[in-house]
Amino acid sequence: MQLSSLTKDKRNLLASMSLEEKLGQLTMIRPDAAEVRKARAGSILDLQEPGSIHKLQEVAVSGTRLGIPLLFALDVLHGYGTTFPVPLAEAAAMDPALWEATARAAARETAAAGIALTFAPMLDVARDPRWGRIVESPGEDPWLASRFAEAKVRGFQGVALAGSSAIAACAKHFVAYGAVTAGREYAPVDVSNRTLHEVHLPPFAAAVEAGVATVMPAFTDLAGVPMTIHKGLLRDWLRVRHGFDGVIVSDFNAIAELISHGVAADIVEAAALALNAGVDIDMASGAYLAGLPEALSRGLVPEADIDAAVMRVLDLKARLGLFEQPFAREDAMRPGDRQSHRDLAREAARKSVVLLQNRGGVLPLAKPVRLLVAGPLADAAGEMLGPWHAAGQAGEAVSYLQGLRRALPDWDIAHFEDFAAAGAREAAGNADVLLLCLGETAAMSGEAGSRAKPDLPDGQAALLKEASSFGKPIAVVLTSGRPVMEPFLFEAADAVLAAWFPGSEAGNALADILTGKANPCGKLPVTWPAEIGQIPIFHAQRPTGRPASELRESSKYLDASVAPLFPFGHGLSYTQFAYGGLRVSPEAVGPEARISVEAEVENLGPAAGEETAFLFIRDVTASVTRPLLELRGLAKIKLDPGQKGTVRFELGAGDLAFPDEDGSPRLEAGAFEILVGPGADKSGLLCHTISLALPKSSAPS
Ligand code: NOJ
Repeated sequence: MQLSSLTKDKRNLLASMSLEEKLGQLTMIRPDAAEVRKARAGSILDLQEPGSIHKLQEVAVSGTRLGIPLLFALDVLHGYGTTFPVPLAEAAAMDPALWEATARAAARETAAAGIALTFAPMLDVARDPRWGRIVESPGEDPWLASRFAEAKVRGFQGVALAGSSAIAACAKHFVAYGAVTAGREYAPVDVSNRTLHEVHLPPFAAAVEAGVATVMPAFTDLAGVPMTIHKGLLRDWLRVRHGFDGVIVSDFNAIAELISHGVAADIVEAAALALNAGVDIDMASGAYLAGLPEALSRGLVPEADIDAAVMRVLDLKARLGLFEQPFAREDAMRPGDRQSHRDLAREAARKSVVLLQNRGGVLPLAKPVRLLVAGPLADAAGEMLGPWHAAGQAGEAVSYLQGLRRALPDWDIAHFEDFAAAGAREAAGNADVLLLCLGETAAMSGEAGSRAKPDLPDGQAALLKEASSFGKPIAVVLTSGRPVMEPFLFEAADAVLAAWFPGSEAGNALADILTGKANPCGKLPVTWPAEIGQIPIFHAQRPTGRPASELRESSKYLDASVAPLFPFGHGLSYTQFAYGGLRVSPEAVGPEARISVEAEVENLGPAAGEETAFLFIRDVTASVTRPLLELRGLAKIKLDPGQKGTVRFELGAGDLAFPDEDGSPRLEAGAFEILVGPGADKSGLLCHTISLALPKSSAPS
């Protein structure tokens, strides 16, 4: 067999394949050497260990008739061996350069293990903290999620897929999975076309624009059509309208689950529906191998569609350089990368922490204090990695306690799981500050991690209550995959740090933050509800005819406030920033205009710090109701105490447009508010109104 000449010509290769070999290329399975040897698998998921990957690849390239290399895939969402903060945490860093850098580092480690595809970035806009997968997402805002999408695709895929440290990315879960009913995992989704185009699709458009190699449809349905068979979105929107010519890979067993969805009578119909919608790879359901031969003979699918799918898979393998080099990319990791990835993980964790509250300036603990550390997450290195930690090892992660003891050898740091332990009460009485490490374990969020009551679990509120009986300042490090709703937490604790799941360097990063060596700069990528009953609550809500007021007949609750506990963008620092001097020019704009926006930021406090400024717009009067705030930009500035600087943004008139029900941008003349400030609390935003004029001919009817 002239393998090399065959592989140079994918068409010849295709022509030489039997139907079963073709369907094998369209099949992804968990490791199974017997299936690989029979050429009944083209890709493998969930194998991490480089030696096992090498062995199985040997079987494919040397033990099968055509020797087509396998594509190894893994969920590398926030690191392979070095674990970076979970995506929701990283989103809080509000830093596209950081998002790209951590994906680049993850790609190097992944490629070095022989894995060529990651099922990331996850781009589901998530506005419901009950949904466990909010932890995997970049949060509630479509503009932010779109910037996250671009940065992650660039980071994973590098400049070219064939590069030794590049891996293929996968934009998932297409689309609107974040809107599952009542935050319940795998539940039905029903959103309007306007919300689909305005909220859920933009991050996928951004990923495609950035050249993402693969896309995964969501498990869920959308208004009755399971995404795995959604022709209108997979074929018309993704492939035709956005020109996506990469590989569509189903979610795990999703094709077989079409039978449970009640849209396919058997595996044959299920396979035919998925292929017809454009799904190239069947992940783990076996439906293509089992069902497509019969579907062909029943005339449910054209053979040309099978061939086209196989060509896309072979093309991806070729673009990844797998035919030339099917094994681990030994040169993906450069000398020093391991250490620099750890340093990057520490930096990312520091930047992801959000200082939610800091009454009386309890933090930082700048000089040696007697510290009592308690709570179930104080010395839980493995939990720091969070869900989807790929090859991350608990033994290589630094717990909060380990990090503090390592960084502060001269401090008196006592540790007790709780106050029932012998000596704990006495230590609490002697301590200057109580540091409670509370929150969720990794298993409480992620896939199948929905919680109807996302509060402090397992009696932790009681622990906090006991701690407050000592009358000492209390700082809480809150580890979680979501905003945790526990009013008592914010009453009892003087300081609360949202650490999310910080990754391998958790304890070292915490020591940097607690001691003020690093000044917290993370900002919430998601609104923090005050009450579970407020969900969904997000900054881009549309107005109502009866906004909340003292009147009974207004949009509010009888038993709770309508205000969130913390708005999108909230995040304190050890210093204070003041905003002023908003300048917007020009004030009257046309459809081609570039709008320049500047504001002054001043550091009024005692420490150097970094501030993220946000730019929102509000379309004041339009043909449909428009969100009260729409994010359109962010800018970062580092300032020393007393220093003043300028944050700059640039908008195009296109940023003032909104999608029609079919997704086409619609620009309407009139007034627009341009708002700049520290977060999505309108009272803290500077505001300037500009007006957009359109020539008669371009004004939509
Ligand atoms: C199911 C999840 O929904 C998806 O995100 C993941 O990539 C696959 N399983 C593979 O692990």
